[in-house]
Amino acid sequence: MTDTPFLERRKARASDAVFIFPWFETHLNAVMWAGPKVADPLTVGWLAAEFKSEAHWVWVDEDDTPQAMFKLIDKGHGCAHLTRFAVAPSMRGKGLAAGLMQEIADEAYEAGADSLTLNVYDSNAHARRIYDRLGFKIVEENDSTGDPGGPSVHMRLELEE
Ligand SMILES: CC(C)(COP(=O)(O)OP(=O)(O)OC[C@H]1O[C@@H](n2cnc3c(N)ncnc32)[C@H](O)[C@@H]1OP(=O)(O)O)[C@@H](O)C(=O)NCCC(=O)NCCS
Repeated sequence: MTDTPFLERRKARASDAVFIFPWFETHLNAVMWAGPKVADPLTVGWLAAEFKSEAHWVWVDEDDTPQAMFKLIDKGHGCAHLTRFAVAPSMRGKGLAAGLMQEIADEAYEAGADSLTLNVYDSNAHARRIYDRLGFKIVEENDSTGDPGGPSVHMRLELEE
């Protein structure tokens, strides 16, 4: 991809929220990204508070502007859970996601996990294809009662060196 910029990964900061907030224009966009418990409405203040948790990461460009992000939760017993994975709208469709996902898997492995889980909505075909290609397998279908995102599945990838 010739127009893919150099991105560097670092822990998220509260000051990143103002850049990431516009990535999700509707509540449904936010739900697709972060699940049914995401703030409604999404605000810069909510994001900034969330980013203090230490579990959020961003990839920044040469101006230190976030262009992608994720949250990695240590569930214990060697299981890491990935959530809130997103690429900035202007950077989507450039083939970035597969490499970023590999970096997330490596980060989880180096932190001591032997498996990585995530949830993805059935309607999020682009994300689902990325996870399928990386080898994530469906573990179970989630209970989608009352979930504005609709049906979703819980997936797991076994991590290895
Ligand atoms: C899902 C997401 C992370 C993929 O990142 P990406 O860097 O755009 O991924 P890719 O460039 O590999 O493209 C993925 C697919 O989207 C397609 N695509 C093309 N243009 C696109 C665009 N402007 N926007 C989104 N997807 C596009 C690609 O062709 C590719 O299709 P394929 O699976 O048939 O090959 C990104 O679309 C995103 O942030 N979405 C919103 C948040 C979200 O849904 N997160 C996942 C939660 S489980």
